[in-house]
Formats: sequence, structure tokens, C-alpha cells
Amino acid sequence: MDICRSKSAIRALVAQWRSQSVPVVLAPTMGFLHNGHLSLMRRARLRAGETGKVVASIFVNPTQFGPNEDLDSYPRDEARDLELLRLEGVDAVFIPEVSEIYDPEAQTIVETTELARMLIGKLRPGHFRGVATIVTKLFNIIRPDAAVFGEKDYQQLAVIRRMVQDLDMEIEIIGAPIQREADGLAMSSRNVRLSPADRARAPVLARALDQAEELAPSGITASRLRSHVRATLEAEPRAQVQSVDIRDAATLAPISGPLTRPAVLLLAVKFGTVFLIDNRVVHPAKERT
Ligand code: PAF
Repeated sequence: MDICRSKSAIRALVAQWRSQSVPVVLAPTMGFLHNGHLSLMRRARLRAGETGKVVASIFVNPTQFGPNEDLDSYPRDEARDLELLRLEGVDAVFIPEVSEIYDPEAQTIVETTELARMLIGKLRPGHFRGVATIVTKLFNIIRPDAAVFGEKDYQQLAVIRRMVQDLDMEIEIIGAPIQREADGLAMSSRNVRLSPADRARAPVLARALDQAEELAPSGITASRLRSHVRATLEAEPRAQVQSVDIRDAATLAPISGPLTRPAVLLLAVKFGTVFLIDNRVVHPAKERT
């Protein structure tokens, strides 16, 4: 496995692969890898095939953290991450320092205007601008044929798909399903920061989504489904509910009335200082033919 810390090193490596016409698939991460990330690597390998190349990036991107967010305490373990990626059969890792990526004189940003401001973008102003900008930079540095992102960050995936379409980027975007712990908690690097008491209660997010999935085909309205999920979360005293939204699964536009198309429930809940998100696409009853 090649470990590249500079843009020039990863560019030279990928250029060599490109000259052999093999597909290159990127799986971007912020490190502190768990099984959720490793599932992205497996999805990337599936797309690349045996002869193609899988590149992982590890970069804790400062521009997607707000001033009062957890950038400094974001967990890191480079040696372990590299070992896990090696075991997963990843071909190269791009692991730059912040100074390699951001020119202090830089002025250019990438922003999906509406999608970046709604939902999590409202709670975390500037977050999706940081994500869209770093993902564009990674795409320009590595120039992959395809890139894999987790469906756990549903809005992030929507932002990236929109950006790729709007800016005519010739990169296939692949969504990889959410990976869960045995008790349903969606895997996240932040889970290790939950206190034992909060960790025990955090599966309430998955439980609320399971209930919503069961209720969705009953003809229930979007607003009643949302209230139901909120009530389940609020019944857990340790959970500080930040937002519960139900949106069109494809466009993230608000919806009302009985469900007629797939909808996505998006949850953001804090336990102590740890911000957790989860989501589920739910479906109305199949139309009778
Ligand atoms: O999902 C993440 O880990 C990050 O937001 C990403 C896509 C690697 C960009 O920094």
C-alpha cells in the first residue's frame, strides 16, 4: 500500500495507473476508521474490480468544522487506520497535512446554495461549504473515476451529487449503506466519545427510525410521522433532540400530507457534547394494481 503525504506523490501514482487504463476509485474519510469506513473500501473495491485501484484519503478537514465544534478533539489514530486499510487491500492512502491542502491565500469556495443551508446546514453554518470545497479539491488532486460516500451522511451525499451534476464533474458517485452496531446505533467515529450511560441510550435513534419505517405504509401523514419520531426521541431524557425532519428522499424538499413517494427521515440528536445523526428512507404503501 502506497502512503502519499503530498499532492505531487498521489498525482504521480495515479497518473501511472491512468496510463494503464485501470479504474481508480476514491473513498474519502476523516480517519479514525471503523467498520462503516471499511464498508466504503469494500464498495470501492467492488467498483474498481480486481485490477482497478482503490485510494482512501484521511484528512480531518478544518473548513467543515464551526468555531465551537469538535475539530481539536476529533479522534485520530493514524497507525491503526493505516493498518486497517492495508488489511482491507487498499492500494494507496492520501494523508496530507492541512498546510499541503490549504493555501493561506486561497479565496475560492464551492457551495451548493440551497442544499447547504437547510437541515444540518442550518445547525452547522458553513459545514457543507467546507465539505463541497474539500471534496472538489480531492477530486481535482486524485482525479478518480468514481468515489464512494456513506449514506449515513445523507445530506452530504445529496450535496455531493448536486455539486457533481452542477459543475459537470465526470465522476460517478456511489452511496454505501449505513453500518450499524448490534444494538442498531449507526457506526460513527464520534460514538467512542459517548459516556457509557449515553452509549446505552443512543440506540433510541435507530429505534425511532424502525418505528417510522413500520408506520410509513399505513397512510400516515408526513407531519404525524415526524411527531411520532420526535416523541420517541424526547421520551429518552438523555437525548437532546436537535432536529427531526421528513423530506423528499430525492430532493430533500419539504413534504406534507400523506406520503406518496419515498421520504427520508433525518435525525440530529446530541448526547452530552456528542452530535449524532441517523436517517432512514421510508416508503408509502405500494399502490394496488
Ligand atoms: O464524511 C466525511 O468523513 C467527510 O465529510 C469527507 C467527505 C471525508 C470530507 O471531509
